[in-house]
Amino acid sequence: MIGYGQAHGKVILMGEHSVVYGYPAIAIPFFEAKVICEVYPRDGAIWLESDFYTGELLAAPVERAHLVSAIHSSLDYLNQERKDLTIKIKSDLPSSRGLGSSAAVAVAMIRAIFHYFRRNISEQELITLAHEAEKIAHGNPSGIDVLTTAFDRPIWFRKGGEDRQSKELKPMDIEVSAYLVVGDTAILGQTREAVLKIAQSKGAKSEVTEKRLAELGEYTVQAQECIKENEPLKLGDLMSKAHANLKELGVSHPALDRLVDKAMHMGALGAKLTGGGLGGCMICLTDSYQKAQEIAAGLEQEGAKGTWIYPMSKALRDMPEQTQTLH
Ligand code: PMV
Repeated sequence: MIGYGQAHGKVILMGEHSVVYGYPAIAIPFFEAKVICEVYPRDGAIWLESDFYTGELLAAPVERAHLVSAIHSSLDYLNQERKDLTIKIKSDLPSSRGLGSSAAVAVAMIRAIFHYFRRNISEQELITLAHEAEKIAHGNPSGIDVLTTAFDRPIWFRKGGEDRQSKELKPMDIEVSAYLVVGDTAILGQTREAVLKIAQSKGAKSEVTEKRLAELGEYTVQAQECIKENEPLKLGDLMSKAHANLKELGVSHPALDRLVDKAMHMGALGAKLTGGGLGGCMICLTDSYQKAQEIAAGLEQEGAKGTWIYPMSKALRDMPEQTQTLH
């Protein structure tokens, strides 16, 4: 008997960081890279096999505590003992790059454990268990990573208050005549630190921080309009404005800024960091596939270690030559 579970990455188009404070965000599933988990029987302590660590689960490095928690809480939830399993993780989703790898690993892992014990998992059970693991990974996660890595549609998301009453979660149709290029700095992003940095300056009642977060929220609202109206030029402009704010909030990185500047010099409609920042990935928008290819090549010359092109409408995605992945 084996258990199997998988999940994909995510790209935040607009609203990272401000989403933690109740402003909306727009996120897109990133199908180009996946996490796969397999669970096998064994006798004794739980054994973990992955690129980052192989050995007994309880001896896993402290930065994998969220994973240990996802495994233990799934087993506890299913009234199973914390033993007698080998768990294998295979991933081509680069970790700590703002592409949601910690959430994707948790989602794939929870699915695999439920599958191993032949138990169905509801959407709500999956979200709740993965969110608990994300709290350990990120401190105060908005929940957007879990929702985008677990399901297949772009989403509009606004985290609820304490009572969760004001929470908004809507699948979005994104039909914009444009291409998104993702560029990976290969520098490890630091979501936890970045979230903490903003929390500290917010806690110190920084008016600038409040203002920049509110503006980020406003740009996201406007971006939703641009998506509805198919206005890539305006959408690009909002992305660049969002990057300026994120930079001012102190969560960018010189390598991200370099790639953002390069993309803009090469004619992108807009560019920004994506995800937690302090490293990780950036995204930019282009008006043609050829421009997307040129910019992807330019980003690689500028030091990007990987680039991906994502057509922003189904019609564009259905053209086979345009779904190719560049590395
Ligand atoms: O770095 P990632 O892929 O985990 O994205 C984090 C997104 C933040 O808005 C910065 C944090 C959150 O929990 O929403």
